Amino acid sequence: MQEYDVIIIGAGASGLMCAAQAARRGRRVVVLDHGNQAARKVRVSGGGRCNFTNAQLSSHHYLSHNPHFVKSALSRYSQWDFLSLIDEHKISWHEREHGQYFCDGSAIQVVDMLMEECRRFAAKVQLSTTIQTLKRNEDGSFWLQTSRGTYRCCSLVVATGGLSIPILGATPLGYRIAEQFGISIKPPAAGLVPLTLQPPDKQQLAPLSGIAVEATVQAGGASFRENVLFTHRGLSGPAILQISNYWQPGKAIIIDWLPAISLDAVIGEAKEQQPRQQVKTVLTHLLPNRVVTALLPAEILNVQLAQVSKKQSDWLVRQLHHWQVVPSGTEGYRTAEVTCGGVDCDEISSKTMESKTVPGLYFTGEVLDVTGWLGGYNLQWAWSSGWCTGQFV
Ligand code: FDA
Repeated sequence: MQEYDVIIIGAGASGLMCAAQAARRGRRVVVLDHGNQAARKVRVSGGGRCNFTNAQLSSHHYLSHNPHFVKSALSRYSQWDFLSLIDEHKISWHEREHGQYFCDGSAIQVVDMLMEECRRFAAKVQLSTTIQTLKRNEDGSFWLQTSRGTYRCCSLVVATGGLSIPILGATPLGYRIAEQFGISIKPPAAGLVPLTLQPPDKQQLAPLSGIAVEATVQAGGASFRENVLFTHRGLSGPAILQISNYWQPGKAIIIDWLPAISLDAVIGEAKEQQPRQQVKTVLTHLLPNRVVTALLPAEILNVQLAQVSKKQSDWLVRQLHHWQVVPSGTEGYRTAEVTCGGVDCDEISSKTMESKTVPGLYFTGEVLDVTGWLGGYNLQWAWSSGWCTGQFV
């Protein structure tokens, strides 16, 4: 039997941050992970450069059934605190659009930094360890049977992340542990994920695969202006990944393909200045030719501007500023960056991350019902919640 003050299940972003903090306070800490590498998602994050945080951090960038839950942790361990750690480890970084911070070099530098922090404070990280059974003893301590023997601890931290990308080690263990102790789960769903289209829409847009267009996409009360990428399965790109967190199955998304202009005004002006011009000529100055021909029928594209009726021009405006499509679904956990839903935050203390009903049991990171926007927000949540947990375990 191996005894520790703190056992953390999951050597990902949040678990490692928590481990270093708890060990820094003098707690005897072990992190157990079934994978053979730590922080596999961090290694591939941000296309290999890790978008580790965002300058514009606020609770507004997160979705949760309890929208206030994130506020305390984000303010106690902010993006600037994490940036100081990055600077302390001499990792060079740069800022991209929308306040996103990336490593200049490799995401692996961030993993090395987390492991170095664990070593510095003597938190043990034990990989390739399968959790088999977990029980709570009468004295409130926890007992774990694993593929590498039995363990006992006073504080158990569940940092197993979400369900996205199973080949990187994602499992539902964290949800199962919550259920075992009667803590409820908000239904998980793939987040920051490409959307798929119904067969007729897919066929209509298939020739556009690979083209990206800056557009405003709306669904579920949210709206994002960024690139939309046509794929052979449907729609992707940052605007679609962002809206996927808000989209509800069966509902439409609305796309403004010309967010920078008023098509009504452009048509009105062109009609006066070059009435013989075809509609298609005007539109192909505004959007790629292939997009125009895929979105609109030839009958209207070939009409001369002088012949365009008010009804036709209203239809064009609707079609390009309020294009609607009902996705058939998402690409699922195979390609999703995150998982929406998770352990119900109403049952967890926002200050300590401890269960309100099971003393000594903590949840941190993506396993909780907290989902950030694209742009470094999910890792910042992992750092902030992990840091806070580490102060109390
Ligand atoms: P994380 O998933 O990091 O760690 C969970 C750990 O638990 C893993 O090590 C796993 O092996 C372990 N585990 C799971 N089940 C277990 C079990 N049964 N037994 C033992 N161990 C178990 N975010 C961002 O802000 N910026 C970015 O650039 C990116 N980029 C990005 C790219 C890709 C491809 C993905 C999939 C995700 C991102 N993200 C991101 C999201 C970000 O990586 C994610 O939100 C955090 O890693 C979550 O941190 P956690 O520590 O909560 O879980």
